[in-house]
Amino acid sequence: MAKFFKEESRTFNEYLLVPGLSTKKNTPENIDLTTPLVKYSKGKKPSLSLKLPMVSAIMQSVSDNNMAIALAKEGGISFIFGSQAIESQAEMIRKVKRYKAGFVVSDSNIKPDSSLEELLTLIEKTGHSTVAVTDNGLSNGKLKGLITSRDYRINKVDLKDPVSKYMTPINKLICANVKDDLSRCNDIIWDHKLNTLPVIDDKGNLVYMVFRKDYESHKENPNELLDDDKRFIVGAGINTRDYKERVPALIEAGVDVLCIDSSEGFTEYQKDTIAWIKKHYKNMKVGAGNIVDAEGFKYLADCGADFIKIGIGGGSICITRETKGIGRGQATSVIEVAKARDEYYKKTGYYIPICSDGGIVYDHHITLALAMGADFVMLGRYFARFEESPSSLINFNGSYYKEYWGEGSTRARNWQRYDLGGKGGFKFEEGVDSYVPYAGKLKDNVLTTVSKIKSTMANCGANNLKEFRKKARLTVVSATSIVEGGAHDVVVKHNKGAE
Ligand code: IMP
Repeated sequence: MAKFFKEESRTFNEYLLVPGLSTKKNTPENIDLTTPLVKYSKGKKPSLSLKLPMVSAIMQSVSDNNMAIALAKEGGISFIFGSQAIESQAEMIRKVKRYKAGFVVSDSNIKPDSSLEELLTLIEKTGHSTVAVTDNGLSNGKLKGLITSRDYRINKVDLKDPVSKYMTPINKLICANVKDDLSRCNDIIWDHKLNTLPVIDDKGNLVYMVFRKDYESHKENPNELLDDDKRFIVGAGINTRDYKERVPALIEAGVDVLCIDSSEGFTEYQKDTIAWIKKHYKNMKVGAGNIVDAEGFKYLADCGADFIKIGIGGGSICITRETKGIGRGQATSVIEVAKARDEYYKKTGYYIPICSDGGIVYDHHITLALAMGADFVMLGRYFARFEESPSSLINFNGSYYKEYWGEGSTRARNWQRYDLGGKGGFKFEEGVDSYVPYAGKLKDNVLTTVSKIKSTMANCGANNLKEFRKKARLTVVSATSIVEGGAHDVVVKHNKGAE
């Protein structure tokens, strides 16, 4: 006879935290959200940790190079989507690794003989009023000068005039050399009262621009997740089909950590994939999943996974439970797997971080997942709403939305994520194509989310995530008490709703 689980399959929304004693030491400034990303043994430190327990989902509409840079600035990481050609995924990784915090590859460039009219069109397109003038009009051409909106008065000039007539020519420009580091560039900016500093190589070719405002924002990101060479840490999704070609290309591009992206990961395909990676690239870290119970965890842990992802059917764009009748409530899954993780650690001395993937609707669901034992969470919908996500911004009756589609939708056609051997191919949908309300910049939203997490941790008397897991006290809520939890019996003036 089939096995029936004793407990119900519960979601985050069915739980609340009950406060514990908050001491005067539990201030938001003292609360540290650092968490391990990959497996480590007792007494040792993990080789990769996060400073923000949030990673972005392995999805076309969520994680590209722009998202990866924005999130690494805040201390989290992105797993760049694998449902694309190997070379284009590797190029996204290269873009992240090449990006030097504070150094920007110029995106507004023009030739000296282009007209002011062409300059104005370019400014309108890029929104940047400082433009590099290079011999070929490219970001890596020989630098001839710099032109800003202060160099010409539109109503006093002939728009047919060449840019070279008004630009500050190279012999009057202060430039840095590509070997100068950011703090040297900053000194030059201050010493010469500049707003923009072009960085050139020994041949006079433009390499980067450093902007005063960017340097200041760089200083505002104390949680940046950087490797030993001060480059951003980035992850990538892989599948169990083409890993023998994809993994070498991603490693060559500089990827820091991999994750097998699969809707259901309790499979021999994952075992083979991990074994191949560990055989050929001993030090490469690879996460696996998704699983929803202790048995699945134990299997992938024994296969050598460096972290394990939990969640089937809970994603906002997911219709797996409806189409296939498989999955488990996210909260119940996390609670069971966290217990298995702790037992595994006790038995083997290996701590394998677990990630709660999908189904986060409100910010406090992140806090609940962490309290229940997740080391970090993976989010799709949350990040898809931001300026930095790869999808289009759409105006719908005066309100702005971003597109967000599932990897199992006909739009993404990521059949490898649902691979069950055989010929493969896309057979039916497990995800939908949707819109999510546009929410602005990642940084602003993440800061708010973090304040909420820290505030609840303080209420529970915890200053770090390990302590939080130990001290957290959770209660299941009844359907009627959920109503009590929102604003009720009043007429709300501006109903923004919870986030
Ligand atoms: P969300 O944060 O609730 O939007 O869920 C994101 C997660 O849903 C991803 O990290 C995946 O694990 C999962 N997912 C992505 N695409 C699909 C799909 O098409 N069907 C089912 N699950 C999906």
